Amino acid sequence: MFAPEVLGPAVDRLAELAGQGAALEFAIGTGRVAVPLAGRGVPVTGIELSLPMVEQLRTKVDAATIPVVIGDMATAVAPGTYTLVYLVYNTISNLLTQAEQVECFRNAARHLEPGGRFVVELWVPELRKLPPGQKATVWQSDPGYIGLDTYDVLRQHVVSHHFRFDETEQAQLFRSPHRYIWPAELDLMAQLAGFEPESRHADWAGAAFTAESRSHVSVYRIPPTR
Ligand SMILES: C[S@@+](CC[C@H](N)C(=O)[O-])C[C@H]1O[C@@H](n2cnc3c(N)ncnc32)[C@H](O)[C@@H]1O
Repeated sequence: MFAPEVLGPAVDRLAELAGQGAALEFAIGTGRVAVPLAGRGVPVTGIELSLPMVEQLRTKVDAATIPVVIGDMATAVAPGTYTLVYLVYNTISNLLTQAEQVECFRNAARHLEPGGRFVVELWVPELRKLPPGQKATVWQSDPGYIGLDTYDVLRQHVVSHHFRFDETEQAQLFRSPHRYIWPAELDLMAQLAGFEPESRHADWAGAAFTAESRSHVSVYRIPPTR
């Protein structure tokens, strides 16, 4: 996700969408996107739950350059108003209930000026890979790494298990729980928060979103006059 061919188009598109205004990143993390975006001259503020992530960000930029509010992106308030709020790298799925995900949209709307945009980057749920009766899929299998997802279809939850190993018999496991969201459900969340859909592409460079797309970049807009 740090590769220039991944990050470059994302930063280009976000800078274009911010226009002359300021941007707010929900779940800013270590500033993978925010630091180069701020480097392009866009004023960027962040909201982030994890203090250790912000400490990593602080090794790159100070609080005057990228201020961060520690809190939950569904509820925390950052000072000021913005032309762009963005939430990338599948992170809306870290909110584990539909109610929290809708609150996150409402919180984005709260921070935006009329005409402002909310951009969400999210994967498309891969339930077509889950045969009836099976609860897990392997989505990546490389030397030294296996990525395995376990599903609770009733709750619309998936836990991603990342196994990293070498030639020894020891493996490291990192697990992350998510609530997956269908594109149509995401659109409805946006509508509930007062947004209009503006665009959906398969990537940051503007590739067409099709039935085979594995991910999307969706742009929602607050009507210019409300
Ligand atoms: C996959 S990282 C993405 C970080 C950054 N946006 C990027 O693209 O590199 C997910 C981040 O979301 C943060 N996070 C998870 N749940 C959150 C919440 N409810 N509110 C704010 N941040 C949250 C995590 O602490 C972590 O820094």
